[in-house]
This record gives sequence, C-alpha cells and structure tokens, in this order.
Amino acid sequence: APAEHSPAVVIGTGYGAAVAARRLGEAGIPTLMLEMGRQWTELETGDSNPFCDMLRPDKRAMWLAERTEMPLASFLWFDINRKIDRYTGVLDRVHHGDMSVYVGRGVGGGSLVNGAMAVAPKREYFAEILPSVDAGEMYRKYFPLAETELGVNHIDPDWFETSRAYRYARVSRAHAHKAGLATTFVPSVYDFDYMRREENGEVPRSALAGEVIYGNNHGKRSLDQTYLAAALGTGNVTISTLHEVRAIERAADGGYLLTVRLLDESGETIGTRQLSTRYLFLGAGSLGSTELLLRARETGALAELPEAIGKGWGPNGNVMLGRANHVWDTTGALQSGMPALGIDAWDDPRHPVFAEIAPAPAGVELWLSVYLAITKNPERAEFSYDRSTDSARLNWRADQGEPSIASAKAMFDKLNRANKTIYRSDLFGDTRRFENRFTYHPLGGAVLGEATDLYGRVHGYPRLYVTDGALLPGSTGVNPFVTITALAERNMARVLAEDFD
Ligand code: FDA
Repeated sequence: APAEHSPAVVIGTGYGAAVAARRLGEAGIPTLMLEMGRQWTELETGDSNPFCDMLRPDKRAMWLAERTEMPLASFLWFDINRKIDRYTGVLDRVHHGDMSVYVGRGVGGGSLVNGAMAVAPKREYFAEILPSVDAGEMYRKYFPLAETELGVNHIDPDWFETSRAYRYARVSRAHAHKAGLATTFVPSVYDFDYMRREENGEVPRSALAGEVIYGNNHGKRSLDQTYLAAALGTGNVTISTLHEVRAIERAADGGYLLTVRLLDESGETIGTRQLSTRYLFLGAGSLGSTELLLRARETGALAELPEAIGKGWGPNGNVMLGRANHVWDTTGALQSGMPALGIDAWDDPRHPVFAEIAPAPAGVELWLSVYLAITKNPERAEFSYDRSTDSARLNWRADQGEPSIASAKAMFDKLNRANKTIYRSDLFGDTRRFENRFTYHPLGGAVLGEATDLYGRVHGYPRLYVTDGALLPGSTGVNPFVTITALAERNMARVLAEDFD
C-alpha cells in the first residue's frame, strides 16, 4: 500500500511539538501529530480521574514497567516502590547505565507529569548557553509569549504565608535565610486559585492530594489544555496516539517517509503504518528526537546527517537530596505537590545552584526537607547507536556528575551548618546523600547551531526540523519547559515565514 500523506508531520506532543503543531495549524497547514503514549484527558471508562496518585500507584503510573520507580526510592531504607501491571502509563524512567531519564508519555508529553514550575532563565545565562540567539528579542517577545500561552501564574504571597500546604516551603525558607541564602517564588502553570479552593475544601484535590509525577487530575494547565487545544482548534491538526515513530527515510520526491509502530495499551506491537510528509518536525524530546536522528544516520537512511547529532547532552545539573529536620520544625502532613519556592544562589561564583524546595507529600509528618538542585555542570555526554538493540545509548558516566554534587553540597553544607541539621541518607536505596543518577531535565543531542542551523533546521536535509529540548546544550540553569517553549516559538516564526510558500 502507498504511504498515507500529510503535508506536515510533528513527532511527539510535548512542548516543542505542541508549539510547532499549533503554529502550523494556524498557518493553514494540515498537520498530523504522532504520539507514542496514550490520550489521557478524555477517557471513556467512566472514571473522571484518569491519573493515579503517588501513594496508591497502579498500572497507569508508569510506562511499560512491572514496578514503580520513584525518585525518592526508599524511606528509612525501606523500598517504597510498588508492583504494578505493565501498561502504557504516563511516566517513563529510561535507563542508560549511570544515568536514567524521567520523561512523560502521552498527549502532552512532560507537561502531564512535571512539577509545573515555569521559570525563565537568567538573561545572562541564556546568552551564555545560546550566544547566537538574540537574547533581547527572546526576553522582549518570546519568553512573554510562551508564559502567556502556557498560562503561567504567580502565587499570592499572603496566601503562601498562611497555607498549611506550604508549611514545608516556609520551613526550608527560614533555614535558607538563616544561612544567608536568598529565596524566590517560582511561577507555575498550576492554577494557584484552584489550589486555594482545594485547601478550602471547595473543589476536588489534586496538588493537595499527592498528585504530581503520575499526572494531575485537576488544576494543572498541561499542554492538552493550552497549546494542543489551540492546535486542534485550528481544525488543521490531528493527533494519532499509540503511534511510535521508528524510522525516517528520504522519499523520492524529496519529502520524508516514516515507519510507525502501532501499540496497544499493554505495549504490544499490533501493526505498522507508513506515512509520508513534506515537512517533518521532531518534537520527541531530547532522548526521542536524538535517537530518531542517530538511527537514521547510522543505518544510512539519512547518511548525510551531521556529526553533531547525538552530542552536547546534559542533565541540567540535577541533584536531589533530603535534610533531616529538628522535631520542632514540622513540615506538615499536607504538602502541595507543586513547588512554589526556590533557593537562588545562581550568582555564586564558585558553586551556582538554583534549588527548588520540593514536597514530600506522604500524608504524614516526615520531618524531612527535599530539594531538587539545578547546578552548572560543564560535563556533556554523547549518544551512540547500538546496532544490536537498534537504539541510542547515552554514555554519561557517574564521575561526570561530581561537579553537580560538589555545588549542591557547598550550598546545603552551609544550610546544615547554620541550622545544626544533617542530610538524610535513607532516601535513595543505599546510603548516598546526593542522588544524581537520574534527571528530570534531559537537554541536548541535536544542539541549535551545531546539529541544526540557528532556527532548528537540521543540517543537510531540507524541511527537516528539531523543535524540542534536544536543541538546548545540556543546561538552562532553571527548569527548562519555558525555555523550550519560547525557543520553539521563535524558531517556528522564522520557519513559517521563510520555508513555506
Ligand atoms: P517532551 O518530553 O515533553 O515530549 C516528548 C513527547 O514525544 C512525549 O510525549 C513522548 O512520549 C513522545 N515521543 C518520544 N519518542 C517518540 C516516538 N519515537 N514516536 C512518537 N512519540 C514519541 N520542567 C519545568 O520547566 N518545570 C518543572 O517543574 C518540571 N518538572 C518535571 C518533573 C518531572 C517528573 C519530569 C519528568 C520533568 C519535569 N520537567 C520540568 C521537565 C520538562 O517536563 C521537560 O523539560 C519537557 O517536557 C521537555 O519538553 P520537550 O518538548 O523536549 O519533550
């Protein structure tokens, strides 16, 4: 059978993909989005809550896994992960030797599982990581545009001071200030008015019911409610789910041919589909887009792809840690799953750190403060193509994470000293105090200006684009989705103006 044709195809439905599809749709270009995960928000099961919470995970929690794999793996060294049934669930932890990468699966990508922290990087740092991008234009135009379209909102500082659900953040703030460290509120795409009504008992609870990494049933403005809704609203965009793109090749007419694996909800392959397109946008995320390009180059399908494909990857310097509090410093049994405060020492000349004050929503008092530190780590890793498994392998070594730990340790040693507190060593399966064997923030693999031109056009192949976190060179200094969104907006404006007739 001849391949079915769509004028434009977007792979993935995360931030970069959603921006691309929306702008293509608005320009009147029929566009097909292909997503390997499922649709979550319009369930026909009669269950109005598609997602499970963190305390009672079921098969919906994780992508094709037999056990949950929580970032905090243990408590008092007891394994807190649970056995679950294999299913196309919403959170995936992709293992690559010394590094594993958390990603969202389903329509909305990472927006389904993330902590909703919507932070634009410091302008000087953005200019440092992407010197060839006009920072003036980004901060004047595309960051504000992304923030508006994503539905970014700010916590009411008076409510923050009284909310039971943010006691944990106020305790950490006091400790940070005692150590002379500055804190800052973080903007969010979780609706803070909704959260206030949750606390008042007026609406069903989500952030206040331990929902985050396995999805939020309420309150969060995930992409299905923002960019993807707008894309579908143009009438020109359709989304096919449980469609995993496996191969890209060149068609005789200069377009692209895709081989797509069709999955059922237990992850079994139930068929394949061939698609053809003239314009191809890769928005499968840092891991997904990089793997597709690397496979295409190494199998010879797109043999002229540049050397830079697979290079420049970093985990955004992620380090997770916990501190043990004094008995009088209760953090509260009720904790909002959405962080609202960060400790900002990014300007520290030796150890730049931006640490989010993270919740530990267990429903009981834990006397525990948790942090996800973002550090400035110059180490980068490469992907290589493994022919035997037909997959991309990330070659990050544990020792490359040491600079991140050194920076996090410098900040939190200071905090512990000032408060006479200690680290927890029971949270990560063994006795380590700093966990950096995983990242929430995979970045790079098809870096802007190296694997692509300055607008995401892949070198050597016309009408082939990268539009997601693969473009960023391993670090943004803050949580990355606002940067990914704003950069995609900027690139799409140029591509639509120049590449379509
Ligand atoms: P993204 O990963 O969002 O989307 C890629 C999509 O492509 C996925 O839906 C995937 O299933 C699909 N896909 C992949 N390969 C495919 C293939 N071959 N065929 C078809 N589909 C394919 N950031 C932030 O700014 N603030 C925060 O608070 C947090 N918190 C956070 C918590 C957790 C638990 C995680 C996992 C992540 C975060 N993040 C975050 C990170 C943020 O979610 C992440 O940076 C973005 O989602 C990345 O956006 P992309 O567009 O690059 O891809």
